[in-house]
Amino acid sequence: MTKSFILGSLLLTTLNVSAGDIPALSHLEEFPGGSGTTSDLSVQAFSHPLSGTRGKDRREFVVGNSFFQSVWVMSPASTLLRDGLGPQYNAVSCSACHFKDGRGRGLPDSDGLVDISLLFRLRVKNADGSVSEHPHYGGQFQPQGIDGVQGEGQVYVNFEDIKGQYADGSSYTLKKPNYTFMQLHYGKLGDDVIASPRVGPQMIGLGLIESIRAEDILMKVDEDDRDGDGISGRANWVHSVVENKKVLGRFGWKAGKPSLLEQNAAAFNGDIGITSPLFPNEECTIVQRDCQNNMTSDDISMELLEKVTSYTQLLSVPKRRHFNSSAVVAGRKVFHQISCQSCHTPSYKTSSDAPFDVLRDQMIYPYSDFLLHDMGDLLADDKGQYKNEEEAMAREWRTPPLWGIGMIETVNGHTRLLHDGRARSIEEAILWHDGEAKGSKDKFLKLSKVDRENLIEFLKSL
Ligand code: HEC
Ligand code: HEC
Repeated sequence: MTKSFILGSLLLTTLNVSAGDIPALSHLEEFPGGSGTTSDLSVQAFSHPLSGTRGKDRREFVVGNSFFQSVWVMSPASTLLRDGLGPQYNAVSCSACHFKDGRGRGLPDSDGLVDISLLFRLRVKNADGSVSEHPHYGGQFQPQGIDGVQGEGQVYVNFEDIKGQYADGSSYTLKKPNYTFMQLHYGKLGDDVIASPRVGPQMIGLGLIESIRAEDILMKVDEDDRDGDGISGRANWVHSVVENKKVLGRFGWKAGKPSLLEQNAAAFNGDIGITSPLFPNEECTIVQRDCQNNMTSDDISMELLEKVTSYTQLLSVPKRRHFNSSAVVAGRKVFHQISCQSCHTPSYKTSSDAPFDVLRDQMIYPYSDFLLHDMGDLLADDKGQYKNEEEAMAREWRTPPLWGIGMIETVNGHTRLLHDGRARSIEEAILWHDGEAKGSKDKFLKLSKVDRENLIEFLKSL
């Protein structure tokens, strides 16, 4: 019997988990995106259509892709199809933040300006406990402006060390980001502002996520924690501009957007300053005169928006690496033993009426419940009880899918995780867990080194 095996079985007794709670390893897990999973594990791993995408669907993907990569310019321009940038914006292309359809790094290695891929949503607290968009800066901080229009300013980050220790005595240091808004062109932000940092996530498997039946997600809602496990997933009910009613939110770090169509239209509008039939108004506030004087309308058509949406729906998920090696299988067991799966739900079967064949009836392994969880004070946008994105509290985040996280380094050349990229590794991402995830984190701290390493090997194989 090896030493790690002994430690592993000791752990089993202390945690009082029977092996029966861990689902048997299925060979399907090697293909987290179902039959369309890509086997390219190069720097292009996040950029392929689901395999099996053919004919007209494939052509839509290609056209959508070209607009996702395209650099937008200010109007009027000779390239009428790609103008309408600004007046204010965060970046000139989708791929600037979703580079290679991957994850932005968000933060620099040491104190300095934040990366372009990190944007900030702004809300102001009202006396009655509600929030509204910032009267002078709007709902999103936009550092850039076209010629003749001032950008809103810059964001500087400085880091504070947070030290901690594992039960076995080894220590770690987390870097907590503190943000300062500088060179503000439209006056002070004020003390009542809630700034919510968000980094651009990887774009893989989004159509599959959209194809999970709402009832399969809602099944895990446990608002008042009736099962007493300390975890109370909540749905974010968000306004759909297409359906003109409240529907289940699934996309973004707070599940603030109900569909890829609306997410993409909002991204064109908020991040690049491109209006569309869904979001026809530029984000210029009353004090931003230069912005108002440069507003454009109907920058992109519904047809084009739908092509970009097909593109985002058809992006594949890379195949697992070493999914059945002994370390990965041991780590998978630890993942279940310390209850990571209570939020990071391993699998779903997609619905039969998804928009493309390759999305229908697929067994997928995203590792998320797509619900909101209070993740504690340190990750919160604000410690108070404010809702800062539809129903989502300033303290809540949507469980992100874990598929592909082991490939981010290959695709994007960094290993940063969490909503603003503050975690420098998978290990740090776990160590930041608190609030509803405190139970899991505490169990992680008590693991032996071998069990921790196996867990991380498992996560890297996703
Ligand atoms: C300035 C950086 C930036 C640019 C430019 C940008 N995005 Fe994003 N993208 C983000 C961030 C940050 C999020 C998370 C948003 C949130 O939490 O609300 C996101 C989320 C998304 C999502 C949802 C992903 C998920 O996992 O839920 C999609 C789809 C998306 N963006 C598409 C686009 C498209 C299409 C464009 C171009 C029109 C674009 N983005 C431009 C930063 C950017
Ligand atoms: C209470 C629900 C919950 C539990 C339990 C939980 N997580 Fe998470 N996890 C989240 C949420 C929410 C986030 C996003 C937090 C943020 O970005 O601020 C997250 C983020 C992550 C990330 C970073 C993902 C990314 O894309 O940046 C990893 C890795 C992760 N969790 C692994 C684990 C592991 C391993 C466990 C078990 C020790 C675990 N989680 C337990 C809810 C949970």
